[in-house]
Amino acid sequence: MRVLVAGGAGYIGSVTVDQLVAAGHDVTVIDSLVAGHASALNPECEFTQGDVRDEAVLGRLFAAHTFDAVINYSGYIQAGESVQQPGRYFANNVTGAIALLNAMVTYDIRRFVFSSSAAVYGEPEAVPITEEAPLRPVNPYGESKLMVERMLPWFESRFGVRSVSLRYFNAAGATEERGEDHRPETHLIPNVLQVPLGKRQSLALYGTDYPTRDGTCVRDYIHVSDLAATHLLALDYAEKRSGAFNLANGVGFTNREVIESARRVTGHPIPLTEEPRRAGDPAELVASNERARAELGWAIEFDDLDAIVDSAWRWHQTHPDGYPD
Ligand SMILES: NC(=O)c1ccc[n+]([C@@H]2O[C@H](COP(=O)([O-])OP(=O)(O)OC[C@H]3O[C@@H](n4cnc5c(N)ncnc54)[C@H](O)[C@@H]3O)[C@@H](O)[C@H]2O)c1
Repeated sequence: MRVLVAGGAGYIGSVTVDQLVAAGHDVTVIDSLVAGHASALNPECEFTQGDVRDEAVLGRLFAAHTFDAVINYSGYIQAGESVQQPGRYFANNVTGAIALLNAMVTYDIRRFVFSSSAAVYGEPEAVPITEEAPLRPVNPYGESKLMVERMLPWFESRFGVRSVSLRYFNAAGATEERGEDHRPETHLIPNVLQVPLGKRQSLALYGTDYPTRDGTCVRDYIHVSDLAATHLLALDYAEKRSGAFNLANGVGFTNREVIESARRVTGHPIPLTEEPRRAGDPAELVASNERARAELGWAIEFDDLDAIVDSAWRWHQTHPDGYPD
């Protein structure tokens, strides 16, 4: 199969590209490198540096290849920033998806896999969150993901484009070659590991009075390899059907438990400073993955927090400054 991966130089996209190449697929990546890294790209994929909203670039790519499917990771990813800059988020995340879908229609490509997010649910009424839970984003980032999800059935009914929306919870961990290098980094595990790496003195822990088992937020971490693997299953699924799936471990860990895990894995004491809650951080975000298991045939390999943290720690030790570019 020839697959176009938009945003394939980013954290999750680069791991998926490796898995697609290993499975024998031909992979083309388009990435503007606004947040991705050229050195995260598998040398066997074909790479175009460009913005997916640039119709001329997309037109050239689609005219030159016969793609069987498109996976879209491209977009901005920081929920907090999206509250400050809603227009920038809608312009990139929604317009980018529309540009890809329009090109797919023009070139008669019928399979689309979309990186959605847990953020489409907003503050859940109940956990674990199932796909039937109300979709009520609480920030423009989540809203932009939901807007794309809501467009997809219209492209299916009019043009037969089947799509799979994958609602990721917290992506974490690394493979030997690819790891997490967001700038700025807003995710807990890479930030915790900056302390044993000597990049910061202590970690700020936001909110210690939540109604959870130790007062800190509970989140659902899913290893990036397990996430990437689902995209290959989703490509098969989209051959016949469309759907939306939670990609989650189904087990939540508190922030303190993640820090304890990092202390065990690294052998470093990791000092903390306790700070007030941050606005908009729900107490608990844990999801059911039953639909993805039953319908996509997904099997999670990394269900152990220490194993996830250990994989990240190995990568950060070999890449203390992240990717070179
Ligand atoms: N990391 C997570 O925990 C998480 C959780 C939920 C959802 N997601 C979603 O998964 C996707 C990938 O996340 P990630 O952590 O790998 O992010 P990332 O920032 O590492 O990757 C996104 C990639 O898209 C590229 N990009 C952005 N806008 C572009 C544009 N207009 N044209 C071309 N390329 C563009 C960036 O350069 C980057 O390489 C995102 O859509 C994100 O919203 C991530």
